[in-house]
Amino acid sequence: MRTIELRGDEVILIDQTQLPLRLVRIKCRSAEEVAEAIEQMKIRGAPALAAAAAMALAITAVKSRARTKGQLLRELERAGRRIGRTRPTAVNLFVGLERALAAARSAADVEDVRKAVVREAEAIAEEDVKVNRKIGENGAMLMEDGDVVLTHCNAGSLATVDYGTALGVIRAAHSSGKKIEVIATETRPLLQGARLTAWELSREGIPVRVVTDGMVGYLMAKGMIDKVVVGADRIAANGDAANKIGTYSIAVLAKEHRIPFYIAAPTSTVDLKVKTGAEIPIEERRPEEVIFFRGVRVVPKGVKVFNPAFDITPARYITAFITERGVVKPGELSKLFKS
Ligand code: MRU
Repeated sequence: MRTIELRGDEVILIDQTQLPLRLVRIKCRSAEEVAEAIEQMKIRGAPALAAAAAMALAITAVKSRARTKGQLLRELERAGRRIGRTRPTAVNLFVGLERALAAARSAADVEDVRKAVVREAEAIAEEDVKVNRKIGENGAMLMEDGDVVLTHCNAGSLATVDYGTALGVIRAAHSSGKKIEVIATETRPLLQGARLTAWELSREGIPVRVVTDGMVGYLMAKGMIDKVVVGADRIAANGDAANKIGTYSIAVLAKEHRIPFYIAAPTSTVDLKVKTGAEIPIEERRPEEVIFFRGVRVVPKGVKVFNPAFDITPARYITAFITERGVVKPGELSKLFKS
């Protein structure tokens, strides 16, 4: 199931805000429409955002009436700035933009720019699926028959172009014949775990149970969790990792209970420009997402709320990173980038 596709001058994507009730695909016809879809979380998850960003530039290039390479580059840069303002934490979005812009800049003329940006957007999407399968293969070796694996948020097909990172590991272990049960945390406030992870896994027959975010410590203390596997939005050079709000608490609990805590992510999520987690920008979303639960007010009028979308898990809580280039400890991240 492809989460996002480039078709001519349109980006077709699954509207994730409608899941699990309806599986609906929407068409974005401009970079502005893609930007709004990202802001509204119709498309989300770090690797999917890389594809969305590059595809937004591809449709900008295809639709543009620019007659010169310079004109078209300026249009693409403007569209890129709009996309770059949508969500700050997932580095993949910026990697997708940069790759598409670099392809445009190195093209010979205006026609060539159009083709190059489309080619690059398609390449990003295809690579993502291959990389996720490799992450799955590498991570499946760490899973044992009978494991109960906890995951947070959604790092599945829906968070990528297809297959997923953390859920890719679970998919690969499941299809290799290992019996794996998944505990999916609900993931307040937007319920990516309850709505998306549970939907994805259950439609493939992978056993999944949903718990609320506050139940994790109890389950771990009861010995009901064997491993934790989550995704990441940005990994700093020292191994600190940003992921969905609540990940840090789960990692601390996992360490307390001696449960391995893995982050499954492509190497494109590692941002070597960022030395530690303290430098990773954390998105703050609208307070209404916390104040209202599916349209019903759950916080009294006049009461303030916090709504950070991500937190930072310090490297010391992370057992290993599962990447397409292999499994490494946080202190060994640089090994992944040696040729
Ligand atoms: O706010 P979201 O839903 O975009 O957050 C997504 C996550 O935190 C995922 O774990 C992360 O992007 C990795 S997805 C493979």
